[in-house]
Amino acid sequence: MTVTFFMDGKEVSAEENKTLLEIARENGVDIPTICFHEATTANALCRICVVEVEGQRVLQPACIVKAASNMKVQTRSEKVIRARRTILEMLASTMDLSEAPEIQIMMYEYGASSSRFPDAERRQPEVKDDNPMFVRDYSKCLLCWRCVQVCAEDAQYTFAINFDGRGFETQIGTFFDRTIPETSCVLCGQCVAVCPTGALKPKREFLLEKGLSAQEISVLNTGRKKRK
Ligand code: SF4
Ligand code: FES
Repeated sequence: MTVTFFMDGKEVSAEENKTLLEIARENGVDIPTICFHEATTANALCRICVVEVEGQRVLQPACIVKAASNMKVQTRSEKVIRARRTILEMLASTMDLSEAPEIQIMMYEYGASSSRFPDAERRQPEVKDDNPMFVRDYSKCLLCWRCVQVCAEDAQYTFAINFDGRGFETQIGTFFDRTIPETSCVLCGQCVAVCPTGALKPKREFLLEKGLSAQEISVLNTGRKKRK
């Protein structure tokens, strides 16, 4: 079945059960996303994709809301732009976005100021370097949940990581805060691949950035193999 509705004043037809984000992309309408990833189940956590739907009191996340007949959707209304800008400013005030180029581009496009909330408390946990494959720097984590999802039902079925803590203290963690080798992690690297902010980084890249040469890194790796 097909639904027909209005997106930014233009009549659009699409298959039933498609999200507003999917339909926008099919029609060349740009809606920004952060937590959404084609390979993971959309959970509408970041809210950067919000759009205005006539008759709805609050803005709706386009990555999960399905199109319905006669809906009137605005993807770039003043309210939408303001909401996206504020979300970006809140992120920039509490976490390190230095390795999130796509979000930096959004900040520029939406005129978001990184100093809008100067009194905001920043998340600055220590870097976790506890396994041979990747390091975890949760000062760069925006809790998009992609890594947890690919580690669970969306791909690997390993369940090594999940949300940990509450409120401001929430972060991605392991059961009982175990090191990665003590969990069910199989070092598949899929979490690193879907992380949008550099919070999860290949160990080799981390060591190169620390100033180690490729040769020094390969000696480290050889030493690790010998110890086994
Ligand atoms: S570590 Fe990366 S992928 Fe995982 S929740 Fe944080 S930002 Fe998202
Ligand atoms: S992309 Fe839709 S809520 Fe994050």
